[in-house]
Amino acid sequence: MVAAQFWTGTESREATFANPCVSRRNTVIANRGRRCDLAGTHGPDSLWQRDRARHCAADPLWHVRGRTIACRASKPSTFQAFSRRAIVSTELPITMLPVPQIALELIGAAKIRGKIDLSGGYNNSVWKIFCDDRSYIVKRYRSEWLKNNEANAISVLGPHRHAPKAIYAQSARVLIWPDDGLFPPRTLDEAYARSMGYALRTIHSVKGGVPVRYVDRPEWRTVNRIGSAAQRTVGYSIPVSGPVHGDVRFGNTLADETGRFVRFSDFEEFGQGDQLADLVLGLVEAGCARPDLPDDAIRWTLAGYADPDGAGLPHPFSSKEVRAALAHHCFKELTAWAKAEAAPKLLEYYEAARQPVLDAITTLDI
Ligand SMILES: Nc1ncnc2c1ncn2[C@@H]1O[C@H](COP(=O)(O)OP(=O)(O)O)[C@@H](O)[C@H]1O
Ligand SMILES: [Mg+2]
Repeated sequence: MVAAQFWTGTESREATFANPCVSRRNTVIANRGRRCDLAGTHGPDSLWQRDRARHCAADPLWHVRGRTIACRASKPSTFQAFSRRAIVSTELPITMLPVPQIALELIGAAKIRGKIDLSGGYNNSVWKIFCDDRSYIVKRYRSEWLKNNEANAISVLGPHRHAPKAIYAQSARVLIWPDDGLFPPRTLDEAYARSMGYALRTIHSVKGGVPVRYVDRPEWRTVNRIGSAAQRTVGYSIPVSGPVHGDVRFGNTLADETGRFVRFSDFEEFGQGDQLADLVLGLVEAGCARPDLPDDAIRWTLAGYADPDGAGLPHPFSSKEVRAALAHHCFKELTAWAKAEAAPKLLEYYEAARQPVLDAITTLDI
């Protein structure tokens, strides 16, 4: 809700928002996700934009001090147009969203000393929020379903130390947990790839069932689509349907300060699924993360996966045709995703690695 008041005795006007935040662009974000765009205002109206820029620079959270934004419009009609847009405009692109109000309230806005935006830029928004004595990770999800799925994964995997220990608080599309001092990964070297493979195998081995607490549609999972597409092409049957990470990639791992693998992150696609497809997706991503050494990256990851109990690899994995079909469908899903995200760099990234990675996975010596 946007309440507008007139400033007395001047031509200027003032709009009052419940929870104003200012984004980097010419946009005011008010009331969690509604926006109004000031681009296109001219002349005396730009005075307002200079004010806003000063506020932004002074405050790392882009929060306008107090609860009022001055909208100085030269004409009442401009002001009215501004207020109308503020009320009716659509949801913001995820990358422009402010730290969710619920996080500010639960952590305590007054305690917050700074924040870093960790968002990868594709799916959700992630921040590290610093207070004097501790920090938190805040994740805002693109949909409630994804949030529920990650919360579910954390409750299943947390006791096995594969996921953050405790969820601090949650709301419909936000999770907050204490920061456990981890960092994005640096290099996928042999030690890192082996640990990543090992961690994937241990996630696959989690026993006790994966509770279906929320809407659980196996066919929605990327790995299950990859698995069934490959089955249609080469006709294998899944040996194991069990817990899958679902989005296995180098960028979804976390390291300690020395760069050593600690655990996976990003469990939105966790659930019951085709573990063979999950493994091949991990190998494809490992190869793509090391375009200079795709064969090695794949072998290291597979060696880590095969290690834990010496039980060997799932039976159909020994077939070249099955591996080739799975890897081919991984690339199909990944490039379709990159296209849907309109991310040309990502597309290039997968296209550049495609053939060497397909060759490496097909010709693996097992
Ligand atoms: N617990 C954490 N500690 C430190 N950084 C994290 C943590 N969780 C996520 N991140 C960082 O935030 C980025 C995005 O998080 P992720 O869960 O992968 O979200 P998305 O679904 O948007 O990919 C990750 O690539 C990682 O670098
Ligand atoms: Mg991620």
